[in-house]
Amino acid sequence: MTEKDFQPKHYSLTLEEGRVNWKAPSNIALVKYWGKHADQIPANPSISFTLDACATTTSVTYKKRSSTKTGFSFDLIFEGKPKADFKPKIQTFFERIERYVPFIKDYDLVIETSNSFPHSSGIASSASGMAALSLCVMDIEKQLNPEMTKDQFSRKASFLARLGSGSACRSIEGDLIAWGAHEEIPGSSNLYGIKYPFEVHPTFKNYHDTILLVHKGQKQVSSTVGHNLMKGHPFAEERFQQAHHNLDRLRPILADGNLDEFMALVESEALTLHAMMMTSTPYFILMKPGTLEIINKIWEFRKETGISVCFTLDAGANVHVLYPESVKEEAIQFIQDELVVYCENGHYLCDQIGSGARKL
Ligand code: PMV
Repeated sequence: MTEKDFQPKHYSLTLEEGRVNWKAPSNIALVKYWGKHADQIPANPSISFTLDACATTTSVTYKKRSSTKTGFSFDLIFEGKPKADFKPKIQTFFERIERYVPFIKDYDLVIETSNSFPHSSGIASSASGMAALSLCVMDIEKQLNPEMTKDQFSRKASFLARLGSGSACRSIEGDLIAWGAHEEIPGSSNLYGIKYPFEVHPTFKNYHDTILLVHKGQKQVSSTVGHNLMKGHPFAEERFQQAHHNLDRLRPILADGNLDEFMALVESEALTLHAMMMTSTPYFILMKPGTLEIINKIWEFRKETGISVCFTLDAGANVHVLYPESVKEEAIQFIQDELVVYCENGHYLCDQIGSGARKL
């Protein structure tokens, strides 16, 4: 499919007013997306676990406008209050998606949104937020064009979400999502995420992710800046090839439930992501001392007990502690006894792999 395939031909119905409401989860990448071209076209393919508890709920109330008005008309309410500083991001998003959903200019929109996780927890809400908003927009389009199939709906929602924030395209469906063209993954695309099409061992069907909030403040360097620093990065080409290779390596690991190899691959991906940041020009470090303390404690714990607990990182200081359902009690006990001390105000969030966004 190409971008053109997402431009609507005609709408069979008209629509005066209404309200749509969606909840979309966050996601955590196992093989990381880092580096992009224009319009969030990824420089390498990635794969993620869709999460469950960390989510954004968004409703859009729409009402047909008088035909003389131009530009987009929308109000934004975040956690019950108007939020002017989020508006430019939504404006840019609407400009990017307009050609694919031209009807958005025909309505006055009120967007009401809230996150399940505390504001300024250091958890990026852009993935779940852009996914939830894209699903609301698609819900309106589906009412204008009821012939659309479920697959077309999800694919276009992912396509729109990507234009808002790259990794958001992996927050539409569950439970494992691949995004980015990869030779060995049939149906994979740079334009949208797809459900991972290969066999997945039951152990990965109810995996846990406990997110340790090491640093809740604003990041010093945004993902947008970080992605762009991969342009001309001395290790970029090797890194992009490595991501392709790691997706190949992951296939038998996911099929067989090989936890030792899974942990080795996932931790290496996390550290490689941060190594790219540390070797960019200019260089930067998003990990904090607590991040490193936690990593060392996880390695020690695993060596001593043989229990399959590993970590991954996103573009920040927080640590995602990953473990299978079978060791849940030991893992939680370990986190409480040894890791919570490194969390800001002792805060952490318990999440697990989820089945994707849903309409409310
Ligand atoms: O979608 P963005 O631009 O916030 O980039 C996300 C990048 C990482 O979280 C670091 C990796 C990933 O694949 O999610």
